[in-house]
Amino acid sequence: MYVCICNGVTERDIHQAIDEGAQNVRDLNKSLQVGGCCGKCVTVARSVIRSRQDEMLLDACSNAAA
Ligand code: FES
Repeated sequence: MYVCICNGVTERDIHQAIDEGAQNVRDLNKSLQVGGCCGKCVTVARSVIRSRQDEMLLDACSNAAA
């Protein structure tokens, strides 16, 4: 799914950026230019970040419990 139409950035691109250390929309703007044009993608990008970070936290907890 495209998150940032202006810059052709997909949800998968954002997941990869998060896996590589991006923590917020500012980081995504630096690496992928998310939000750098019309800005309409910022709210969705923020939601994608939160979901990915929640997934990573759950994975870390599952691995710690195993
Ligand atoms: S949709 Fe992302 S800057 Fe326009």
